Amino acid sequence: MRYMVPFMLLIAACQSPEKGPETRYAPREVNVYSHRHYDVDKQLFALFTERTGIVVNVVQAGDDELLARLEAEGAKSPCDVMITADAGRLGLARSRGLLQATQSNVLAAAIPAHLRDPEGYWFGLTMRARVVAYDKTKVKPEEIADYADLTKPRFKGKVLVRSAENVYNQSLLAAMIAHEGADAATAWAKGIVTNMARDPQGGDTDQLLAVAEGLGEVAIANSYYVGKLMASTEPEKQKARERLGVLFPVMSTHGTHVNVSGGGVARYAPHPAEAMALLEFLAGEEAQRLFSEGNKEYPVRPGVPVASELQAFGPFTADTLNLEALARLNAEAVKVFDAAGWR
Ligand SMILES: [Fe+2]
Repeated sequence: MRYMVPFMLLIAACQSPEKGPETRYAPREVNVYSHRHYDVDKQLFALFTERTGIVVNVVQAGDDELLARLEAEGAKSPCDVMITADAGRLGLARSRGLLQATQSNVLAAAIPAHLRDPEGYWFGLTMRARVVAYDKTKVKPEEIADYADLTKPRFKGKVLVRSAENVYNQSLLAAMIAHEGADAATAWAKGIVTNMARDPQGGDTDQLLAVAEGLGEVAIANSYYVGKLMASTEPEKQKARERLGVLFPVMSTHGTHVNVSGGGVARYAPHPAEAMALLEFLAGEEAQRLFSEGNKEYPVRPGVPVASELQAFGPFTADTLNLEALARLNAEAVKVFDAAGWR
């Protein structure tokens, strides 16, 4: 409990000292372990408390650390809801026995089936596409329709992408394996290694900035990193955005690879009802709109307005592969990257 920070101290602060302890009540609460560190999440938790009176306690940790901590705490864990990025990691949490199956008509109605676990172990709450950002001064958008186009000789020494140790790349490759098989995925990964502008380094935003600096011509990145760059007031990023265009490559006959940030109810959740209430709130219209505006993510809930920065990228066709496959094929994706020499 060392890192447990009560998110809303308001309730304690509002208790009048004259009333004495007998009139105090234990507020309903929900304990969240989250890999996300965004302001919009804090804003949403505060709104949830305002609406329901349920206090949200947040523990923040790195992705692998979060799973390790849940595992170490076992049945004594205070965690009610685990929130993390990438369906691959959510699926991993399920397979390690850290989440529980749940049933919610509200979530089933709000979230398209392919963006949540078939048995309710986890739910996608915000969606992102793995897009290609390109240098508008060097690349014609019609040169890239498919992720496979990035492996053509035309892009030798021009492709910027982060390490294969990163789960976003592992999930992209897992989706390719699901659709086209391991051989095609291996050929793609080898082709990208051949075309890399440099050895993988940094995160997605670093790849975008590198394109703007002329270190390469195309970068693979999650859409919210591009959206945030477009919305940034930092001079370096404002300069970069003038030069960058965004494309939504497809996987042959399938759409653009998408993934989610999402959450699930912890296996030993002490407050399962509050946990479900929080997940249902986060899938609601208001929260979905705020996720998009605040963090430049796509709502998972259909019909919710999308942030203007994302609207400017134009519409795209998302792959409808059930994201459960990303965890199932993760180990194979890691092997393929290894074989391809993508570090
Ligand atoms: Fe990210």
